[in-house]
Parts: sequence; C-alpha cells; structure tokens
Amino acid sequence: MKLFILTLLLKYTVQCANILFVGMYPSLNHQSYFQPIWKELSLKGHQVVALTPNPIGDPSLTNLTEIDLSEAYHIEGLKAFPTLISKDLSSKDGFNRIFELMEKIVIKELLNPEVKSLIADKRRIFDVVIVEVHYPALFAFSARFKCPLITISSFGTLLNGHDAMGNPTHPALYPDLFYHKKHNLTFWERLEVTYYGFWFRYFYKYDVLSRADIIAKNFFGIDTPYIGDIEKNISILLLNVNPVFYTPRPNVPGLVHLGHIYIKSDREISKDLKKELDDAKEGVIYLSLGTALKSTNLSLQQRNIILRDLSELPYKILWKWEADHLPGQPENFIIRKWVPQQAILAHRNIKAFITHGSLRSIEEAIINHVPMIGMPFSADQPFNVAEVVRSGIGLSINPNKLRKGQLRRAVLEVAENRKYHETVEKISKILTDDAMSGVERAVWWIEYVIRHKGAYHLRSPVLDLPTYQYYLLDVISFTFTGFMIIIVVTYRIIRIIVRGTIKVKKQ
Ligand SMILES: *[C@@H]1O[C@H](CO)[C@@H](O)[C@H](O)[C@H]1NC(C)=O
Ligand SMILES: *[C@@H]1O[C@H](CO)[C@@H](O)[C@H](O)[C@H]1NC(C)=O
Ligand SMILES: *[C@@H]1O[C@H](CO)[C@@H](O)[C@H](O)[C@H]1NC(C)=O
Ligand SMILES: *[C@@H]1O[C@H](CO)[C@@H](O)[C@H](O)[C@H]1NC(C)=O
Repeated sequence: MKLFILTLLLKYTVQCANILFVGMYPSLNHQSYFQPIWKELSLKGHQVVALTPNPIGDPSLTNLTEIDLSEAYHIEGLKAFPTLISKDLSSKDGFNRIFELMEKIVIKELLNPEVKSLIADKRRIFDVVIVEVHYPALFAFSARFKCPLITISSFGTLLNGHDAMGNPTHPALYPDLFYHKKHNLTFWERLEVTYYGFWFRYFYKYDVLSRADIIAKNFFGIDTPYIGDIEKNISILLLNVNPVFYTPRPNVPGLVHLGHIYIKSDREISKDLKKELDDAKEGVIYLSLGTALKSTNLSLQQRNIILRDLSELPYKILWKWEADHLPGQPENFIIRKWVPQQAILAHRNIKAFITHGSLRSIEEAIINHVPMIGMPFSADQPFNVAEVVRSGIGLSINPNKLRKGQLRRAVLEVAENRKYHETVEKISKILTDDAMSGVERAVWWIEYVIRHKGAYHLRSPVLDLPTYQYYLLDVISFTFTGFMIIIVVTYRIIRIIVRGTIKVKKQ
C-alpha cells in the first residue's frame, strides 16, 4: 500500500505542474486565443494561475485560479492604440507611444494587490511561467520564481521577439510585422526596411529594455537580473500564426507556430433572425466591424456610402450595428446589436462577409468557406486584408477613401464570381489540415518545457555570437584588406617594371 501511494505521489509530482500564465494586453481579441490554452492545462490536472484582463470566470475549472486585471482596460490612450500602428513603418514617435502605452498597462497590472501578493509570496512555486511577449518587464516573473520562461503571442512578433530567440530576420524576405508589404520589395523598400532594422534594434536596446529593466527592478526586487539577459533565456516562443497567411521562413526549433487556434462556438442564431436568413433565398451579405471598433463610430459620410451602395444590391444585408436605430435604414437591411458570428458564417445563404479584417474574423470566414471584402481600419487589419487579397479569397476597400459604387462593385464581384468561393474552400482545407490543433500543440510544448526544466538544448548559438562575427564583418574586412594589399603591391611592381623598361629604352 505504502509503495502504491509513493508511486502515485511520484507520478503526480511529475504530471501535475504549477503554471503561471501572464496575459497582459487588454483586448478580448488577443486574450481569447489564450483562454483555451490555460483552460486545457488546468483540465489536464495542472494547477494554473492566470493573470489576465479577460478571465474565463468558470467556477467548474477547479484547478484554475484567475487574477482579474480588467482594470487595464481603463488605461488612457488604449482606444487610440490600434491607430498608432499605421500602414507604414511607424515613426520613432509612433513606437515610443506604443511602448509607453505598454509600460502604463504593465505598471497598472503590477500594482494590482493580488499580483503584488503573488510576487511577494515566499511559498509560491511555479514550474514554468508563460508570458505574453509584447512587453519585456514581465519576463521578470521567471526570475522571481526561478523557473523556465515561455513567451506567447496571439499573432506574430516584432523584430525583438525574433532576436530574443536568435531567429533569422532577413529584411528583404521578412520585413517587419507591421510593414505594409510582405513580398517582392523594391530597392527603396529594402533600403527602408534595412535601416528600420538598425534603428529599431537601437531603440529597443537603449530605450525599451532599459526602461523595462527599471520597472522590473521596482516590482520584482533590485536583485532581478537585467531584463535583456532574462530575454536571452526564453525556452520557447509560441506564435499564433497560420500557414496560409504567414510567409514560409526558417525558424529556430524553439520558435513554434501554433497553426491556428479555432475554438468552435456553439452559440445559436436566434429564432427570428434564423427565419430571416432562411427566407433570404437571394443571399445575405454579413457586415461586421468587430467588437473593438463599433460600426456606430463610422463617419456619417462613410455610413451613407455604405447604406447607399448596399441598398442597391439584390441581397439581404445583415449588419452588426450596435445601436437600436439605424437612421435611413434601407429595406433590405437587418440590424442586430450582437450576432453569433460563427453560426452566421456557417449559414448556407451567406454569400460574402464585409469585415474589418481581424485575424479571428478572417479565420472564421475561411473555415466556413465565406469569401470576404476587407475594410481594414488599423492595427494588423491592413496586413491581414492584404493577405486575403493575395490568396484570392476576397477584395480590399480602404474605408478612409470610400467612393460611391466601389463597395457595391466589390460585393457583387466577390459574391457572384465562383473563383473566390472555390479558392476559399481550397484554403480552408490547408488551414485545417494539421497533425494537431493549435491548443494541443501549445499544451504539448508547455509540458515539454516543464518535463525538461527549460529548453536550453534548443537555444540558438546566435545568442552568444558577437554581431560582427554573425555578419562575418571580420572575415569580409580581412579578405577586402588582403585584396587591396595585393592590388597595391601588384600596381607598384608593374610601375617599377614599366619605369625600368622606359629608362632602358631611353638609353
Ligand atoms: C483537477 O486536477 C486533478 C488532478 O490534480 C484532476 O484529476 C481533475 O480532473 C482536475 N479537475 C478539473 C475540473 O480540471
Ligand atoms: C513576386 O515576384 C515573383 C517573380 O516575379 C512572382 O512570381 C510572384 O508572384 C510575386 N509575388 C507576389 C506576392 O506578388
Ligand atoms: C540563463 O540560463 C542559464 C542556464 O540555465 C543560467 O545559468 C543563467 O543564470 C540564466 N540567466 C538569467 C539572466 O536568467
Ligand atoms: C465611438 O463612439 C462612442 C459614442 O457613440 C464614443 O464614446 C467613442 O469614444 C467612440 N470611439 C472611437 C474609437 O471613436
């Protein structure tokens, strides 16, 4: 019996780990990608503590403790944040404001009394901490609990995320996450991206990291190692990127693409709306600009063009419109403040989806085989919509340069031309053809890091190589100098010989 209990205990100490998950960015769009991961870990029997602005709040998840950081939603300037990430590479000013905002969010979250007592609790043990990658001060959690660090992002990552893993970032092939173009850069674009790379790294190292280090030392204690060193010890980086939109690239083994995290929702369409959709044999166009940006926030001019253009179409228009009344609502419009998006997209009468272009909306449309018209406003939307157009599953319209007739023509083309439907079906198969789901892959890798107490064996040697060696600057200068010496010496010798022969001739 004793032996049995002992083996049972042993089994449990190996299998059940203490996991800390730190999701920092206040946006349901981002946190909803992480929720299924920490939920799944807790269901597997791990004790999970999740710090997040968006707790799941399900009391039946007995192994999950959530610390509610929703106060981060009240940070001043948060609403304007997505517009900071402009279509082109942000200026120094733009990046300054982005990281300043991150700083404010993180400070507010670290001031939360529950977070403070967690950091101060001497008896707390964690086997791994998983931190959202966007702001480095939070990496100090791993130093505080002396355990391996995993970073995660609900989309891709900026240059600093790749650099921390020693991942190759060739500017001509992989311009940064927020650069407006991903393929076939012109000479001037390559020049711009290259200089941007130099500038960004300088800015990150001397501005962002040094300030993050001060914050970390303030909240985690003065003996916290330099954040830039902790960053070089990240075990793995989990990116929520899918194989359809992301340019294929060489990755170090510690950088893991999750594929896609699609969580099927079982919310159903209300009876009255379902009847309207069922009856719309001519087809329905679904229009939603997401949760962060409200359709009611469109300018009057934008709204009027949308109303006029769509009213001329032979379809029903279902608009997620967040008010009771839509002034001048045309006859073919149905408005709802909220709709179960997945169920709507799965409805057989939906012909096309007019979307703001968040990754989640696009993935849901692809999985339900619905082609799109993208109206990107800010953040990563322009890049996502550019990929929609490139993969041939929809068209793009600039909401700030909306002209009469443009939207009508685009919707007609996407809804009627079979080519968009066929392509979206093909792409849907690629997106879902995977050995395991994104959540399963995340859980497997997190447990892998727990089993091996880190993933130091996967660490890229680049992280210990001086920059001049990586770029072979010493080899190139040696070769160049040698070459110059040979040229000069040869020139001298030839000159002496020529002079000699001239002298000989003169005599
Ligand atoms: C909680 O963890 C235990 C193992 O420690 C497991 O048996 C149980 O199913 C888990 N419960 C829930 C609700 O996740
Ligand atoms: C980039 O250029 C190549 C060669 O000219 C072409 O085949 C390819 O389609 C282009 N890619 C994009 C995304 O335009
Ligand atoms: C990084 O990891 C190595 C090996 O595990 C360890 O010796 C070192 O102290 C760590 N450095 C920091 C700053 O955490
Ligand atoms: C959207 O409109 C509401 C009022 O309807 C306003 O309070 C809010 O600040 C606006 N948001 C943006 C991003 O313009």
